[in-house]
Amino acid sequence: MIDQTKLPNTLEFITCTNFNQIADAIRTLAVRGAPAIGVSGAFGLALAALQSDAKEKDELINYLENAKKILFETRPTAVNLVWGLQKIMQVAKMANTVDEIRKFVVDAAKKMADDDIQTNISLGKNGSKLFNDNDTIMTHCNAGALATVGYGTALGVIRAIKESGKNVKVIATETRPIQQGSRLTAFELKHDGIDVSLIPDTAVGYTMANGLVNGVVVGADRILQTGHVFNKIGTYQVATMAKQHNIPFYVAAPLSTFDLQSKPTDVIIEQRKASEVTEIGGKKTAPDGIDVINPAFDMTPPELISGIITEKGVAKPPFQESIKELFAAN
Ligand code: MRU
Repeated sequence: MIDQTKLPNTLEFITCTNFNQIADAIRTLAVRGAPAIGVSGAFGLALAALQSDAKEKDELINYLENAKKILFETRPTAVNLVWGLQKIMQVAKMANTVDEIRKFVVDAAKKMADDDIQTNISLGKNGSKLFNDNDTIMTHCNAGALATVGYGTALGVIRAIKESGKNVKVIATETRPIQQGSRLTAFELKHDGIDVSLIPDTAVGYTMANGLVNGVVVGADRILQTGHVFNKIGTYQVATMAKQHNIPFYVAAPLSTFDLQSKPTDVIIEQRKASEVTEIGGKKTAPDGIDVINPAFDMTPPELISGIITEKGVAKPPFQESIKELFAAN
C-alpha cells in the first residue's frame, strides 16, 4: 500500500506481511479513509489466516478473532473497518477445514477490493448527474482513490463528472490539522489532471460568499439511519456555511459506510494527539503545555445535507425514510 504519511513529497509503498503490520499502518494513518481501512482490515485477516499454524478449524477461528480485535481497535469511528472484518469472519466460519478457511478469506478479501472500485464507479455515476457543466465543487479531507481501493467516493463523483464530458473545477480545503486536503486531495487531483485550487480551511466562508462554489461533495466515515453523517473534523462547519449560502451539500459513500443500529450518542469520535495541533511539519506553533482538543471527526446533522450519494442511488431528505427504502430495495 502507499504510505500516505509521506505524500506529497515521496510516493513510497509499504509491504505488509502480517496482520500486526496492517494494524500499525491503520493506526499511524499510512492507510486512511473509511473504505481503504475496511479493505485493509479484511486483508489483515487474510494475512492472519496464512500466518497461523493452526491445525484445527476452531483454533484458526480463535486466532482470527484475536486478530480481528487488534485490527478493530486501531480506529473507532469509520464503520467500514468493522464491516470489512465482520464480512471476512462470516466467510471464515462457513468453511469446514483450515485450508478452506485460508482460501475463502483470501478470495473474499480480493473480491472486496475489486468490488470497492466497482462500487465507487457506480456511486460516481449517480453523483455526476447532480452537477452541471463548469460547476466548481468544494471537497473536504480526502475521499479519493487514496481513501478507497481506487477511484474514490467524493472524488469519484468528480472523476465521473469529468468522464461524462462536463468541465469541473475543484476547491480543496487543506484540512487541518494533518492536511489530508493539501497533502492528498490536491496531490491526487493534480496527478490526474483535474483542475484543483487549494484553500485554507478558514477561506470556506469567503469562497462561498463570493460565489466561487456551486456545490459541495464530501465522503463519510459513518452514516446513521437518521441521516447524521460522521466525517472529517470541519465537515460540519463546511455544511453549515453551505446552508448559509444556499449551496447544495452532498455526502458520497457506499452502503458499507451506513450504521443502521447506532444513535448519534453511541458513536465514538476518535481523539488524536495534541502535537498534530501544536506543531506544523515538526515545528512548534503553540506554547508548551497548552491544553488541546483534537477530535478527528464531527457530526453533520441531516438538515444540512441535500443528498447522500450511494452506489444504489441518491437518498434525499427526509433521510429516515429514504435510507430505509434504499436498504429495503438492496
Ligand atoms: O482520518 P481520515 O483521514 O481517515 O479521515 C478520512 C475521512 O474523513 C474521509 O472523508 C472518509 O473516511 C471517507 S473516505 C472515502
